[in-house]
Amino acid sequence: MNNVVWHQHVVSKQSRSQLKEQKPLVLWFTGLSGAGKSTLAGALEQALAAEGKHTYLLDGDNVRHGLCGDLGFDDAARQENIRRVGEVAKLMVDAGLIVLTAFISPFRAERDLVRNLLGADEFVEVFVDAPLAVCEERDPKGLYKKARAGEIRKFTGIDSAYEAPEQPEIHLLNAGKPVAVLVDELLTALRLRGLID
Ligand code: ADX
Repeated sequence: MNNVVWHQHVVSKQSRSQLKEQKPLVLWFTGLSGAGKSTLAGALEQALAAEGKHTYLLDGDNVRHGLCGDLGFDDAARQENIRRVGEVAKLMVDAGLIVLTAFISPFRAERDLVRNLLGADEFVEVFVDAPLAVCEERDPKGLYKKARAGEIRKFTGIDSAYEAPEQPEIHLLNAGKPVAVLVDELLTALRLRGLID
């Protein structure tokens, strides 16, 4: 960045997280539309908040109403969507928060870009793995039907790619298990990694 210097402020990430008595990190939920990312991230946030954690949920559908309201769904727009969200998530980690994100984030390169913005233990990729047939059957917003009818172009899983994570920190199979069971699996995985107490 030309002629712009970084100002190191006195209150640090460490002091902010100490005040909150938690380790800041990003729980990055990725998966097809309708796989259950928002539902699971929301339920996990509720469980963490009930334990006194300071959290924030960045949700694709909501962020696309504001911060990313100017972006569509071609590859470049999705890349920019994830880049912006990654930068916001990084700021929130700097603020000491436990950040949950729910974006399709279909491309490995952008997910890795976000991973590389953060520290080694600060990025937890959560693959919400539900078969396309299951997501399409659920079709909570009626968008798969529209995509099949050719009314929406470049829909993930139909005529736009989804690159599944190769080594996600957490891999959840979401084809019929109750949300509460999956939230327990998530909490256990986070505790095993020493990320929450
Ligand atoms: S991402 O690919 O850029 O990560 P994001 O998670 O923000 O996507 O937004 C996905 C949501 O936008 C979907 O759950 C769906 O409700 C809506 N949507 C609208 N058009 C599309 C499309 N062409 N492909 C995927 N999702 C779409």
